Amino acid sequence: MKRFEVYKLWPIELVKGAGAKLWDRDGKEYLDMYGGHAVISIGHSHPKYISAISNQIGKLGFYSNSVTNSLQSDLSSRFGEVSGCKDYSLFLCNSGAEANENAIKLASFHTGKSRILAFKGAFHGRTSGAVAATDNKAIRSPFNRTSKVTFIPLNDITYAEKELSKGDYAAVIIEGIQGVAGIIMPDDKFLSDLRRLCDKHKVLLILDEVQSGCGRTGKYFAFQYSGIKPDMITIAKGIGNGFPIGAVLITHKIGAVVGMLGTTFGGNHLACVAAISVLDVIEEENLMKNAITIGNHIVDELSNSPSVAEIRGRGLMIGIELKEGYEKIKERLLFQKSVFTGSAGSNVVRVLPPLNITLKEADEFITAFRELENEMQ
Ligand SMILES: Cc1ncc(COP(=O)(O)O)c(C=O)c1O
Repeated sequence: MKRFEVYKLWPIELVKGAGAKLWDRDGKEYLDMYGGHAVISIGHSHPKYISAISNQIGKLGFYSNSVTNSLQSDLSSRFGEVSGCKDYSLFLCNSGAEANENAIKLASFHTGKSRILAFKGAFHGRTSGAVAATDNKAIRSPFNRTSKVTFIPLNDITYAEKELSKGDYAAVIIEGIQGVAGIIMPDDKFLSDLRRLCDKHKVLLILDEVQSGCGRTGKYFAFQYSGIKPDMITIAKGIGNGFPIGAVLITHKIGAVVGMLGTTFGGNHLACVAAISVLDVIEEENLMKNAITIGNHIVDELSNSPSVAEIRGRGLMIGIELKEGYEKIKERLLFQKSVFTGSAGSNVVRVLPPLNITLKEADEFITAFRELENEMQ
């Protein structure tokens, strides 16, 4: 049997990682400016993370959600503290799409309505409910037959008001910062206006922090810059640092019905210790401050570069929009300079490195970028 093709594959097999460095099976070294799609938050092979998971698997790796697991309560308290939503409840699952899927389902259950408002360029995952709220033709159109989602322009509150006043919406779903679309930020004012509108029209506000959460922007969640409180927050990627985990933080307004949500693996012992150790390391090593310092440094150094049309983002969630003619920089970064980055469309380089990347490593990236730019002029 061969694998089902899902992504275009680079002919590179990685076998080892440490911090922001990676090595392939021939011993070649790479700089990781992408964290494997914003997943590696505290760096590859962090010793505290390794020992937390190893200790736990030596005791108990898994038992089902039908027995008490105090690690889930510990993780709930931690999420309550870092989100500022202490009176919320926590549902644990396994991925970002699953978190959004469950948030949409809960919104529909709570309001008795089914229509969802989402934003142009949005990406919320590839399962049926999540992909329905995804505005990306390549990802959505061959599969999706669900039509109960309306997409409106980001940062246009008049559009939002017009739609929400129709009265048939269960929820608005919005990314803390749009990642797949190319690092596009909702304005802080737009988010607070949206919060106000959701309250006015009794619609739930779901903040998808799958990519922008977990300290990447310099706060635990990107929405915290706007001072709002969403009704649900969805989390995945960086919180597990590679261990699959997804979560929904749910407002106390929504009560649970036993049997409505569930999962076999979600919130298992290993996932909980992985997430707790990630939160510990972010705090102990002051990684949100590092994200801001290094992120600002990259933006300052590259903002006047000849190839750069615009550089935007917060902390270590950065999009470098390239001018025409420089689109190949991303591929060249990998094959000529051994630097992993991501892309959004053909002309945006996405920079999402581990949050403990050093200044020296950031400078290696800046040098590599400038050298390629010079070669391409
Ligand atoms: C904002 C956002 N939401 C949801 C997802 C889906 O997460 P997963 O791939 O874990 O299902 C992603 C993945 O890239 C994402 O960036």
